[in-house]
Amino acid sequence: MKFLVMNGVNLNLTGMREKGVYGTETLEEINAKIKAFAENNGDSVDFYQSNIEGELVNKLHEAYLQKTCDGILFNAGAYTHYSYALRDAIAAIDIPVVEVHMSNVHAREEFRHVSVLSEVCKGVVSGFGAASYVAALVGLKGIN
Ligand code: DQA
Repeated sequence: MKFLVMNGVNLNLTGMREKGVYGTETLEEINAKIKAFAENNGDSVDFYQSNIEGELVNKLHEAYLQKTCDGILFNAGAYTHYSYALRDAIAAIDIPVVEVHMSNVHAREEFRHVSVLSEVCKGVVSGFGAASYVAALVGLKGIN
């Protein structure tokens, strides 16, 4: 299968910001681990990060219109909690999307308990650090 890992706002600073919450591994290091896991299982994976909401919408459209992947792992960062534009983009495409969070959003501030994306996602993984992405990948792949 072909997967696309999308990271949204502020995720480029992973490993540098709020280390107690998000750990010390950089996004590049996390992506390398996801890539190794995917390739070990015969899958391929592409990566995309943007801080700009519209660019994330465009990437979802591109995946759909150009059929670039079979599934998307999406950590939208804070956009998760209020972006109806991203929600509509996920609803518009026929590619399964898993909402991913490194932290357990339900154990944090109340505004993080709300996701406007979950309802249109195939599933949600939250709280396992970098392993949340791998767990989402396994979920999309299923057990054969
Ligand atoms: C996050 C959780 C969000 O609430 C936060 O805004 C982020 C990261 C996570 O991976 O735990 O930027 O999506």
